[in-house]
Amino acid sequence: PWNAGRAAEIVAEHGHLEGATLPILHALQETFGYVDAEAVPLIADALNLSRAEVHGCITFYHDFRSAPAGRRSVKLCRAEACQAQGSERLHGEILARLGVGWHETSADGAVTVEPVYCLGLCANGPAALVDEEPIARLTADSLSAALAEARS
Ligand code: FES
Repeated sequence: PWNAGRAAEIVAEHGHLEGATLPILHALQETFGYVDAEAVPLIADALNLSRAEVHGCITFYHDFRSAPAGRRSVKLCRAEACQAQGSERLHGEILARLGVGWHETSADGAVTVEPVYCLGLCANGPAALVDEEPIARLTADSLSAALAEARS
C-alpha cells in the first residue's frame, strides 16, 4: 500500500538528479505498484515544477498507473492483423462487459486491461494475453472463461 513517508523519502533520494521526474515516478511505481495522486504535490514541490507539469508527465507515459493494478492482467492486441479479424468490435464488447476503458482497472479490482501491439499470433487472432498466457481466436466468452479459471 501507499506510504506517504516512504514516498517522500524516494522523492528526496532522487530529487538531485537531472530530469528527476521520471526516475522518481519509476521508483514510486516499483515500490508501491502505482503512483498515488499524493505524489504530484510532493514531486512538484521537490523539483520546483507545477502540479500540472507533474500530472502531465504521469499521464503522458502509459507505464504509470494511478491506482493499484487489478489482480488479473488482460492485454488485448490492437495491431493490424487482429483488427482485420474483428478485434475492434470485440474489444468494445469486452471493455463494456468489464466496465473499463483502456489502461483501467475494473471497479472490483479484479482486472486491468491494457492494449498491446502484436503478440505474434496474427494468423489466429484476435489475440490476447491473460496473466501472460497467450489466447488465440479470442471471444468475449473465451476471455470470461479464462478469467473465471483460477490463476495457475
Ligand atoms: Fe495481433 Fe499480431 S496483430 S497478434
